[in-house]
Amino acid sequence: MAKKPSTLFLCTQCGHEEGRWLGKCPACGEWNSFKEMKVENLDSNPVLALGKSARKKVTRPGNEGQGTLESSGEMVPQVLSQVVPHTQSRYVSGLNELDRVLGGGIMRGSSILLGGEPGIGKSTLMLQAASAYQKQADVLYISGEESASHIKLRADRLGIPIDRIHVLANPQLEIILEGLNKVQPSLIIVDSVQTLLTQTLDSAPGTVNQMKMSVYGISEWARHNGAGVFFIAHVTKEGSIAGPKLIEHMVDGVLMFEHSGAEVRFLRAHKNRFGSVDEVGLFIMGGEGLEELTDPSKVFLVDRDTPMPPGVVAAPIFEGSRILVVEIQALTIPAQGGYGRVYSDRIDARRISRICAVLEKHGGIRLSDQDVYVNVAGGMKIAEVGVELPAALAIMSARTGQSLSRHLAVTGEVSLSGELRPVSHEKQRFTAAGELGFIHRLGPKSGRTEKEPSWTSVGTIQEAIKKSLTWSD
Ligand code: TYD
Ligand code: MG
Repeated sequence: MAKKPSTLFLCTQCGHEEGRWLGKCPACGEWNSFKEMKVENLDSNPVLALGKSARKKVTRPGNEGQGTLESSGEMVPQVLSQVVPHTQSRYVSGLNELDRVLGGGIMRGSSILLGGEPGIGKSTLMLQAASAYQKQADVLYISGEESASHIKLRADRLGIPIDRIHVLANPQLEIILEGLNKVQPSLIIVDSVQTLLTQTLDSAPGTVNQMKMSVYGISEWARHNGAGVFFIAHVTKEGSIAGPKLIEHMVDGVLMFEHSGAEVRFLRAHKNRFGSVDEVGLFIMGGEGLEELTDPSKVFLVDRDTPMPPGVVAAPIFEGSRILVVEIQALTIPAQGGYGRVYSDRIDARRISRICAVLEKHGGIRLSDQDVYVNVAGGMKIAEVGVELPAALAIMSARTGQSLSRHLAVTGEVSLSGELRPVSHEKQRFTAAGELGFIHRLGPKSGRTEKEPSWTSVGTIQEAIKKSLTWSD
């Protein structure tokens, strides 16, 4: 086998490796970003060595009889049918909105990246989660940003139990690993990955490789000890995780904490090895930390005493495992220069353009000379197909100036042919809308529904437009 070179050049921006020094990184295009570093024998690497010394069998309360996650690194192949899966292998926080997004709690031995803009509430969420987890297990909160006293002040403000939360206000990997071996926590929180550093690498603190190496060291410790680890990462306003993007592949899940200008904060899974990525957790930041939105059905609806304006329609949306009824709003104005444009950031603008084309071709609504604006009240981003018919009717209503009934809820997919296609969970959507007082319910004709549905079903966009205008307040 060819001997590996003893030195390597790493781009400090993106982590790209080269065998020789280059002025410009071929991967990220950054100039002067290559740093020389020694390639160390993995066995003599103190970080990995520390990780290995931690590979002892640990049994902690709640973990008895399950073995350790050691067995995840088997030495011989096993017959799949004879593999005994770990049950109860998740830590459930009791913060339902967080557990739901994780797929029912954090998996033992797994690592999760939590991204979000500064100030969104990542540290608060994690401290509340730590408090919830510490009822069953020891938690180590590693902070490279705030002092232990700062964290204590936040906990006091939140008024949460913290008996089994340990803090280590030090971002250095070698010290963190010692702390982990000492405390043997079941849950680890790292705030934030951007501050992590290690003495193992020659590169400057704060560089991508320092971060990668540290994340690797901590997640390896967690994996071998059956602990769950959350890595907090800052994301810029534009939504890029810059450095942390490079560690997305090293973790089992990526959660993003976002808000929309409105008060509701959304926790979404962008990657989840142990659950779905469709779930969304909803929180509101209050004086005593983050409050879970347990009954979110109404938050996205607008309360009005005034007559319904044109361009507004309610849509029951299927988000993960629950239905949220949201208000879709549209506005059309004559385009400057004659060419219409679509402005929509909560629903994909290409989807709205397609709906406009269908409305123009099959619905008799002229839109090509209009600027079309579409919004979702409350700031929810919707990528779900059931939003198409509601968006179409909102745009129609805005363009024609005819208001729709305030008691109307709509769902359905719009085909390019002008036909409507059924969407999943129609019955649950309309039941949820009915419970909120939407007595007029309009959806696509479905070949699958055996009995007559309790809502009005139509086959084409033309029929939908006609029917929707028959109801008034
Ligand atoms: P923080 O969790 O520090 O955000 P991040 O770690 O994502 O940067 O909290 C951000 C904001 O939340 C901060 O401006 C203060 C505010 N906040 C409240 O409104 N109520 C509270 O109970 C707490 C703890 C913070
Ligand atoms: Mg923070």
